[in-house]
Amino acid sequence: MIAYKHFTLKVLHIAPECSPLAKKGGLGDVVGTLPKALRKQSIDARVLMPAWPGVIEKAEAIGKLKKEPLGEISVALNWRAYTASVLEAEVNGLHIYLLDQPELFSDPCIYPEKLDSETVLPFMFLSFAPFELLRLTGWKPQFLHTHDWTTAPVSAALKWHRYYSYFNGDYDTVFTIHNLAFQGIIDHSVLDGWGFDPKAYSNLDTESMEFFGHLNMMKGAIMTCEAFTTVSPNYSWDIQTSNGGFGLDGVIVANKNKLRGIINGIDYDVWSPGTDRLLPANYSLNDMSGKKECREALLKECGWKENSKPILIFVGRLTEQKGIDIMLDAVKPFLAHKARCVIVGSGSDFYTRKIQEFQKEYPGAVHTILEFNEGKAHIVYAGGDILLMPSLFEPCGLSQLIAFAYGTIPVARATGGLADTVIDADGSPDGTGFLFKDFTAEELEKAIERALSAKKDIPRWESIIKNAMSSDFSWDNSAKSYAELYRDILTSD
Ligand code: GLC
Repeated sequence: MIAYKHFTLKVLHIAPECSPLAKKGGLGDVVGTLPKALRKQSIDARVLMPAWPGVIEKAEAIGKLKKEPLGEISVALNWRAYTASVLEAEVNGLHIYLLDQPELFSDPCIYPEKLDSETVLPFMFLSFAPFELLRLTGWKPQFLHTHDWTTAPVSAALKWHRYYSYFNGDYDTVFTIHNLAFQGIIDHSVLDGWGFDPKAYSNLDTESMEFFGHLNMMKGAIMTCEAFTTVSPNYSWDIQTSNGGFGLDGVIVANKNKLRGIINGIDYDVWSPGTDRLLPANYSLNDMSGKKECREALLKECGWKENSKPILIFVGRLTEQKGIDIMLDAVKPFLAHKARCVIVGSGSDFYTRKIQEFQKEYPGAVHTILEFNEGKAHIVYAGGDILLMPSLFEPCGLSQLIAFAYGTIPVARATGGLADTVIDADGSPDGTGFLFKDFTAEELEKAIERALSAKKDIPRWESIIKNAMSSDFSWDNSAKSYAELYRDILTSD
C-alpha cells in the first residue's frame, strides 16, 4: 500500500462511480483521476464507493485488494440496520474503500430509472457510510467531498440527521455539481425513516431541503456545505440564470459566495496519441503520419473506402443534453458531397432508434456504434477530423478535451465548459475549434461550414491542430485549484 507519512490534508471523495472500477459517464473519470492529482499536491485523497456487481473482481484484477475486509459497518435506514463489509483496495495509485453490500448495491446500471423510497436506499447508505468508516480505518479526513445528488445527503446529515449531526464540526464538506439536471427530487415522507429531524424539511424555512413541496437533495447540500463547485467556471454562471438553473438558480445565487467553478482535466496517461495502445499507430505533433493510419482503421471499422472526405465524429451519451436533434439536422446538407459522419455512444431508446434510422437514410455516409466501446472510441477520436459537440448545456465536457489531444477539431456550442475550453479559430490565431451560440441546427450548420472551409486551407488547418494538440488540460492545474479551495476553507474556519 502507498505510504502517506508526509500528507497533512486528508480528503475523502464519496461517489457511486470511480473509473476504472465503475463508470457510467464523466463523473467516473473525475472521481478516478482527481484524487490521484490531489496526491501530487500533498493531499491524502481517498475514495469511498459501492462494490457494484463486478467491482471487487476488477479491483483484484487491475489493482491490489486486501484479502481481509477491514470490518463491518451498519447504517439504520427505515428502522432496519443494513450492514456492509468494507474492503480496501489500491488501484492505479489510488486508495479506495469499497462497500460490499450485495442487497443494496446489486444494480450493474448503478442509477435507478425512477427515484422512490426503495431505489434511493443504496445512495443513502453510501452517504451515511463515511461517518461509520472512521471506526474501522482510524483515518480521519478533514474534508468529505461529495458529487452530485447521490452523495448530497452527506452534508445535510451533518446539519439535520438525528444521530450524524453530532459529527458536525468534525468534518468540512465540499459538494461538486457535475450536472444540475439531476437534483435528487423525491417525496419528503422518506426523511423520517432515514433519521432526519423534521427541521430538515419545512416550507416555512427557505434554508431547508423543501423545494416546491418536495425534498431536493442537491438543495440540501448547497445549503449546508462549506463550499460547492461546478466543473467549469462558465457553468458556475450558467446555473445562476433561469435558463441554466433548473429551478435552483435562486438558491444558487443566494449561496454564490460559497461557489467556485474549477475546470476538469483529462488523464493524459489514457488519452495521448503518442502512447495510446488502443490505436493501430501512434502519433504526435512532431510526426503526424500515424493519424492517417488511424483514419484507415476507422474507415475499415465503418466498412468505407477512402474518398478523402472529412470525417465528422460525435462521441457521447445519446441524450437531449448533447444536442443530438440539431446535430442530425445540421449534418444532413453535408452528407451528399462534403463529409461523412460517425456517431458513437449509448443512451435513451428514443435517440438510439433515431440514430439507427439516420444511418439507414444515409448509407455510406453515416456510421453508428451504439454502445460504449473504449477501444473503438479511441480509434474514432484519432481517425476523425472534426468533433461535433452541440450541447444544450455542458457542465464541463470531456470529449472536446480528448479531441484536442488527438488533433481532432471541435465544433461546439459556446456553453458551460465548452465556452471555457474551445477558442474560436475565426476569432483568434490561438484558435482550437469553432463555436456557435444559439441552439439551432442553422447555427450549427454555419459553424460546420466554417470548419470545413478552414480545413481546405492546409497550413491554416495545421496551425489549428497544433494549437489544439499543444493545449494543456491536465488534472494538475485543476487539483491545484481544489487544493487552494480546501486550504481557504480551513483557514477561514
Ligand atoms: C457530467 C457532465 C459533463 C462533465 C462530467 C464530469 O457528465 O454532463 O459535462 O464533464 O459530468 O464532470
